[in-house]
Amino acid sequence: MHTITDYQNYFISHLSEQQIIKEPTHLYEPIDYILQLGGKRLRPVLVLMTAEIFGESYTNALDAALAIEVFHNFSLVHDDIMDAAPLRRGKETVHEKWDVNTGILSGDAMLINAYQCFEGYEGDLFRELTVLFSKTAMQVCEGQQYDVDFETREDVTIAEYLHMIAYKTAVLVGAAMQMGAIIAQATTESKEAVYEFGRLLGIAFQLQDDYLDAFGDPATFGKQVGGDIIENKKTYLYLKAMEMATENQQKQLAGLYTLHPEDPAEKIQTVMQIFEDTGAKEATREAIQTYTDKAFQVLVDLPIAAASKQQLQSFGEQLMYRTV
Ligand code: IPE
Ligand code: IPE
Ligand code: MG
Ligand code: MG
Ligand code: MG
Repeated sequence: MHTITDYQNYFISHLSEQQIIKEPTHLYEPIDYILQLGGKRLRPVLVLMTAEIFGESYTNALDAALAIEVFHNFSLVHDDIMDAAPLRRGKETVHEKWDVNTGILSGDAMLINAYQCFEGYEGDLFRELTVLFSKTAMQVCEGQQYDVDFETREDVTIAEYLHMIAYKTAVLVGAAMQMGAIIAQATTESKEAVYEFGRLLGIAFQLQDDYLDAFGDPATFGKQVGGDIIENKKTYLYLKAMEMATENQQKQLAGLYTLHPEDPAEKIQTVMQIFEDTGAKEATREAIQTYTDKAFQVLVDLPIAAASKQQLQSFGEQLMYRTV
């Protein structure tokens, strides 16, 4: 069994072997830039770890891990354009450092490159991996569209929000784990169960992402704190605050979420205070715990070694308390 740090290192060295900057450099440099900026490498680690949990060497899962991470980074480049985000992993976003057109095309090239990563898998394995990948990638697009649609809607429900984050974020985490299981030729039942574990953990992960977007430490978070408030994102914090607010607070919050002030500092301050006062901040912490626990429930019946269950559980616990 390897540690999470081992898997990160195996992945990073595989990534560096593949990275070559070719002509035209304006297409390839931004790709190299975003992929080398790092990040937690959560999804590729899960691909490698799951392959080994089901008895396959991680080395056979490196290309699938790369596909998932390249796709994830593609989605971030386009997401940062859509969210008008200035910062990613503590550095300028691609469309800020270059321009929007560069972000669009480099993103497109990364999506194509993600598919190319599967070319080394043969026959049935290739088919199963790419079918899952395409299904997942389409769901991510659907989730991203809902996320944008919700910015200007005032009647978003928690159920709609949960569907949106399941698609934009959680299904990729589920697919990462299922790919590890596919490569290891695990049973259909096991493949479905690890997918569900990853999906539930992914929901908790996006809830935590929303939480950090408002309450993270700007010194370490790596993204613009308050970005979701600026963009009027209907996050769990917002929806819970609306649910738990007094009539006055409701009016104030709803009003603030129709504005795009030139200087957003005051809006952010007021909204954060409402998140705190209504109990939405605390309710979000509870929801993170609930979805993490739901994920752990899936582990109970999974036919894998106790040590593997322990490893997945401690991975989930670490995510719950992350600050980045
Ligand atoms: C950011 O993902 C986008 C979300 C789905 C919340 P990560 O938080 O995994 O980003 P990196 O790769 O570690 O930077
Ligand atoms: C991003 O959600 C999901 C995808 C990139 C598909 P967010 O917009 O919340 O992610 P961050 O906060 O910018 O990383
Ligand atoms: Mg974003
Ligand atoms: Mg977004
Ligand atoms: Mg976010």
